[in-house]
Amino acid sequence: MKHILDELEQRRAGARLGGGEKRIEAQHKRGKLTARERIELLLDTGSFEEFDSFVQHRCTDFGMEKTKISGDGVVTGWGTVNGRQVFVFAKDFTVFGGSLSEAHAAKITKIQDLALKTRAPIIGLFDAGGARIQEGVAALGGYGEVFKRNVLASGVIPQISVIMGPCAGGDVYSPAMTDFIFMVRDTSYMFVTGPEVVKTVTNETVTSEELGGAKVHTTRSSVADGAYDNDVECLLQMRRLIDFLPENNQSGAPSWPSFDDGERIDASLDTLVPDNPNKPYDMKELIGKVVDEGDFFEIQEAFARNIVTGFGRVEGRTVGIVANQPMVLAGVLDADASRKAARFVRFCDAFEIPILTFVDVPGFLPGTAQEYGGLIKHGAKLLFAYSEATVPLVTVITRKAFGGAYDVMASKHIGGDVNYAWPTAQIAVMGAKGAVEIIFRADIDDPEKIAARTKEYEQRFLSPFVAAERGYIDEVITPRSTRKRIARALAMLASKRIEAPMKKHDNLPL
Ligand code: HXC
Repeated sequence: MKHILDELEQRRAGARLGGGEKRIEAQHKRGKLTARERIELLLDTGSFEEFDSFVQHRCTDFGMEKTKISGDGVVTGWGTVNGRQVFVFAKDFTVFGGSLSEAHAAKITKIQDLALKTRAPIIGLFDAGGARIQEGVAALGGYGEVFKRNVLASGVIPQISVIMGPCAGGDVYSPAMTDFIFMVRDTSYMFVTGPEVVKTVTNETVTSEELGGAKVHTTRSSVADGAYDNDVECLLQMRRLIDFLPENNQSGAPSWPSFDDGERIDASLDTLVPDNPNKPYDMKELIGKVVDEGDFFEIQEAFARNIVTGFGRVEGRTVGIVANQPMVLAGVLDADASRKAARFVRFCDAFEIPILTFVDVPGFLPGTAQEYGGLIKHGAKLLFAYSEATVPLVTVITRKAFGGAYDVMASKHIGGDVNYAWPTAQIAVMGAKGAVEIIFRADIDDPEKIAARTKEYEQRFLSPFVAAERGYIDEVITPRSTRKRIARALAMLASKRIEAPMKKHDNLPL
């Protein structure tokens, strides 16, 4: 018996070494942790249960039969994050550059299947060179198997991709179909084809960082939802994110002990909105003062900053927050902001996370750049996402809610369950200046008349009361009581159920 146990230990030790000491050292020199070190940081101490550590590739081309490494470039298994079960796979760059072989793919799909069967989140840590070139079509087939499962699991279990090194070719499309992508600054990049191919095809000269670094994907392409300075910070933030997410689409938003009174009043909110309607203020201040202990996990912080999306908690339960940001482009809705918020709203709806919407929006952004860029279709995405949502929707209008953007931002008409407005709210087709110039065009050369008309318009429409008289606003509330009102509304809505008509799926304007 002893020699068998010794052999097991020997084999395990071999598998743990992956591509060997030298390659591990090289990985560390680049400021990156190894696959196993990353898993250790991500999961609760001692909770990792590994699968398939002895799996090897079966390739015999190009002399590959001479180099077989236990584990074959990916570490897979399950464990817990703050006691909640998750599945994980981590590409091991020290083994054939983390490239994907048929056997490597089978290890990932085994874990994907188990995650789906047990309805638990799955996290992929990427650091890899794409398809194992020596395996040819067997590697491509392997990717296809992974992709299909990504789609099957979409909307059933949360899927998170963390890019911690190179991520090219087949490796980018699996993350692209998951719910969230996070990157590590300076050490990670993602692209379909690398700088050499780009040079050959388009004659552009770019570095990996310029083509697909964290900055590009968090600020321009919006492929990534956030970036962190190093592996350690990134993995700790992933633990924080997982705490906000449900296990699956039927478990409901997780609930943690809360030490922040739901009835808490915050008098400072009474002066948040400046007297001058054209002066900005920071909507994140309101978010921070409403959620439990000010704990807010922002999604896509660096992209389309005119809208803020992210997770917080109210009385211990996760809520998704969508808020116009008056500090950036006056909080206007443009194509990027609409697309960003639409995806977030759809995630929350798929996973039964109530949505809290804070509105201060002057309308949709005019101009050829926006219209040529498909503002109609992108704006419709957000309208569609809110309209199809069946989760509790609580909306607070703090200031402007103008035009189509009023309807879009979780208004009563498209499904808002509880719609509040602050006394500073202005709910109208447009601002006073634009409105008066159109409906009183004949008086345009008479400044006195225009001033009088503007005043009349402001008094009539630029308040929450016209909407409240019609019941479009359920109540005009004091800013200081916002958290209390929201907490009570969410508690009342906890048992909300909606039966939608039978359909195969909708036809979201993509
Ligand atoms: C086999 C690979 C590999 C691959 C890297 N390696 N990529 N082995 N297949 N795809 C091996 C290298 O041979 C090397 O082995 C080790 O991993 C480390 O690689 P280096 O090149 O030394 O490291 P580095 O300089 O950091 O460069 C990393 C890299 C580069 C940028 C990822 O290796 C690279 O460009 N690889 C190829 C990327 C690629 O074109 N993949 C195919 C994409 S097509 P040794 O033994 O020397 O240490 C694709 C199609 C799928 O994925 C489409 C599905 C839709």
